[in-house]
Amino acid sequence: MKLLDQKVTLITGAALGIGAGIADLFAENGAILYLFDLDGEKCQAKAAELRSAGHQAQAFQGDVSRAESLQTCVDAALAAHGRIDAVINNAGIYPRRAFLDMTEAEWDQMQDVNLKSLFHISKLVLPSMIERRSGKIVNISSVTFFKGMALLTHYVASKGGMIGFSRALAREMGPHNIHINCVTPGAIKTEGEVVHADPAAIAAIQARQCLDRRLVPLDVAGPCLFLASSLSDGMTGQTLNVDGGLIMY
Ligand SMILES: NC(=O)c1ccc[n+]([C@@H]2O[C@H](COP(=O)([O-])OP(=O)(O)OC[C@H]3O[C@@H](n4cnc5c(N)ncnc54)[C@H](O)[C@@H]3O)[C@@H](O)[C@H]2O)c1
Repeated sequence: MKLLDQKVTLITGAALGIGAGIADLFAENGAILYLFDLDGEKCQAKAAELRSAGHQAQAFQGDVSRAESLQTCVDAALAAHGRIDAVINNAGIYPRRAFLDMTEAEWDQMQDVNLKSLFHISKLVLPSMIERRSGKIVNISSVTFFKGMALLTHYVASKGGMIGFSRALAREMGPHNIHINCVTPGAIKTEGEVVHADPAAIAAIQARQCLDRRLVPLDVAGPCLFLASSLSDGMTGQTLNVDGGLIMY
């Protein structure tokens, strides 16, 4: 029996990077996938690739910071299946900016995409999860919340906010048997990281990991699979750190 057999799962930011890696592993484990991404073309390509391998996947173009575009995807899943079993909130942005150069608009965009998106999507999926007394939500935060990181004040604040949001909502939703957990990736080799991160800084992080190799999206996808499956039914409000042993708290 596959871990996510016929589980209706929505993954945001699924066209590339960590989200695409989660989509691959979840598809292999039997999930019915709703892939959501700002980049409609790449999202369609990812869904088509999965379907051609015999999996169930549909693509939706939209912006996680806009409730109405998320609603189209949520409505489609509920209309087709009458349920959403799991949501992986992975879409996120991480442009560097020195704090004193940071504009209010840049701060707001970071919070809207990385943090306020959880407000929107949770409002949309929780009513049907409460009705069915079943649901798994996994929020992709970042190890930078534990470490702090220069040039990423807006990002680290948003990622810490995701953990706070998840803990508080886990308490509120626990009585409804809804599980809300976080994953905090370390330095993961993705399309976005290549654009935004300094190679010397990545090498320095790798040197401080226990595991001497570059982490890849599949390393994050495994713990997400665990948290979306019944294997983690006794866990909520938790944060799993996937950083190759960079930090240990
Ligand atoms: N790569 C890392 O080292 C790393 C480390 C810690 C945490 N994370 C987190 O993991 C998540 C994925 O990171 P990644 O490296 O795979 O990123 P990436 O840039 O490679 O991919 C992100 C995907 O999200 C989509 N996206 C961006 N903004 C969106 C929006 N407003 N609405 C819908 N989709 C949107 C992009 O189009 C892209 O397909 C992010 O939340 C990031 O903060 C990444």
